[in-house]
Amino acid sequence: MKWALILGSSGDIGRQIARDLAQQGWSLYLHYAHQQERIEKLIGEFQSKFPRQDFIPIQSDFMAADCVDRIVNSIFGVDAVIFAQGITHFKFLHDFTENELDEILRMQLKVPMMILQRLEDKLARAQAGRVVFISSVYGKSGSAMETPYSAVKGAINTFVKAYSKEVASMEITVNAVAPGAVNTQMNQMFDAETLATVRDEIPVGHLADPAEISYWVRVLLAPEAGYMTGQTLYVTGGWLE
Ligand SMILES: NC(=O)c1ccc[n+]([C@@H]2O[C@H](COP(=O)([O-])OP(=O)(O)OC[C@H]3O[C@@H](n4cnc5c(N)ncnc54)[C@H](OP(=O)(O)O)[C@@H]3O)[C@@H](O)[C@H]2O)c1
Repeated sequence: MKWALILGSSGDIGRQIARDLAQQGWSLYLHYAHQQERIEKLIGEFQSKFPRQDFIPIQSDFMAADCVDRIVNSIFGVDAVIFAQGITHFKFLHDFTENELDEILRMQLKVPMMILQRLEDKLARAQAGRVVFISSVYGKSGSAMETPYSAVKGAINTFVKAYSKEVASMEITVNAVAPGAVNTQMNQMFDAETLATVRDEIPVGHLADPAEISYWVRVLLAPEAGYMTGQTLYVTGGWLE
């Protein structure tokens, strides 16, 4: 049985990835930070639909000092690690506090690197280990009012290039899926008019459904995808391309 660790499985994109992988027969470590009820509900749904698979919740706030231990100490074997956690703040760079800058860098870059340091051996033992980051098209295009977020997503796109070279001989692939705008709770900070303006700019004419992002994660996890590594797949409906 294959095991995937999904960081941020309580988020809208992470939850969709969890649903799709559970459907494909994966057992899952389901990470969350605050939304415990969402994860309990999801596990309840999975246990009745997929009784032969296992689903283990892992609570860890990436701002806590013991956050990496809380995750890696719960893992006995793992074939795929998917980073779908993330936050953003919508404001000018000059309005960011030092804590907010630390939060964005720590949550999306530093803690994922620390988790991979500790799970690399286990991924190597999987013999077709997979690492996938949910990045963003802003990591390539940059977005005003989301400068630290854009910077960190750009760093992720470079991280996958570099780290994929280190672990290729262990048959571990490392890639990123970079969405444009996705219909999730992260975008609930925007009013309907702003979201309509974004939608009008997207060539395919709608924000992505989380399933349209999750599909590409499944592609990268497939056994046949072992020759694809170090890449960022832009899944934007043609937006900002
Ligand atoms: N939505 C978009 O338009 C869009 C576009 C491009 C890229 N992305 C990227 O896609 C990923 C998922 O985004 P989403 O739209 O699914 O967002 P979401 O629904 O808001 O989910 C965010 C996830 O991050 C977790 N998280 C928040 N604070 C955390 C903390 N302190 N420690 C650890 N985990 C924490 C949340 O856990 P709890 O809920 O349990 O706190 C949740 O699982 C992010 O990396 C985001 O940057 C999103």
